[in-house]
Amino acid sequence: MILVVGGAGYIGSHLVKDLVMEEDVLVLDNLITGHREAIDQKALFIHGDIGDPFVLKTVFKNYPIKSVMHFAAYSLVGESVLDPQKYYENNVGSTLNLLNAMLKHNVKNFIFSSTAATYGIPNVELIDETIPANPINPYGKSKLMIEEILADYASAYEMKYTILRYFNAAGAHESGEIGEKHVPETHLIPLILQHLAGLRKNISVFGTDYDTPDGTCIRDYIHVTDLAKAHISALHSLLNGWNKSAVYNLGNGQGFSVKEVIETCEQVTGLKADVVYCERRAGDPGRLVASAEKIKRELGWEAERNLEQIIQSAWKWHRNQKY
Ligand code: UFG
Repeated sequence: MILVVGGAGYIGSHLVKDLVMEEDVLVLDNLITGHREAIDQKALFIHGDIGDPFVLKTVFKNYPIKSVMHFAAYSLVGESVLDPQKYYENNVGSTLNLLNAMLKHNVKNFIFSSTAATYGIPNVELIDETIPANPINPYGKSKLMIEEILADYASAYEMKYTILRYFNAAGAHESGEIGEKHVPETHLIPLILQHLAGLRKNISVFGTDYDTPDGTCIRDYIHVTDLAKAHISALHSLLNGWNKSAVYNLGNGQGFSVKEVIETCEQVTGLKADVVYCERRAGDPGRLVASAEKIKRELGWEAERNLEQIIQSAWKWHRNQKY
């Protein structure tokens, strides 16, 4: 059985929907940002928090967990600057509880959701995993702290782990049953689609004076189903003993500017956006594009869905939201 912590959240719920096809899955989620309706019915569900030692004891004593996948974290960069305590308590403190409970119950396989925010503002075209981590906000730092703890736990306690550093996750499940729903929403693609669906007055572009061809920020958007598939490859590798405790970028290797994303949303929907050009948002790097060559080489995974497919799936979900 695989324990998926945060399996009611956006990325966790997409992973669960695919993973239940091949494994028994137990979801543990406190439902603070996740949605009960997003959890696939074939998965078992426990409503609880990894900050609670009793919950962890119950889970590890009563279920034959062979691996843990950890998606439960706060992930808003701006909020992490204003309220670092929330980020360090949950993303670091509670994750440490989880790791210690795993050790206590001799569960040694761990897949960790990390982020491109660990790189800070790297001044390179394509970011590969040899670029030194240098996070510039508490969110990125909280993820890097766990990455470092994992390396120490691996050498001292034989913990085996895979760290997956996501670039910009987007899109929705092909079934149309689950998709991206954050409250509040801060991410570019759902905000554009909400605007085009008539739920927001306009779409703001944060900054037009970046050192990029059209002056707006460039990001590497990756379909959430491609992310889910990467987790399943990483799980196979861990369970088959191939893994050597590694960190991998998850991206498409292709960058799109904010303007290009808006244009693609207009093409997919056939609707015209009302765009408002604004000041830069604090802490936004101008360009973040992954090299995902390492995971392709070592685990045979690569992203299969392009920006248009990402937006098509997200639009299908937005027009027919189930929760
Ligand atoms: N943007 C706008 N207008 C908006 C919202 C976003 O112009 O209304 C721009 C942002 O400035 C940025 C781009 O669109 O340039 C993408 O912004 P998102 O908020 O969608 O995503 P981020 O790149 O800021 O953040 C994502 C993840 C974080 C992670 C980060 C790593 O959501 O969790 O990538 O860099 F930390």
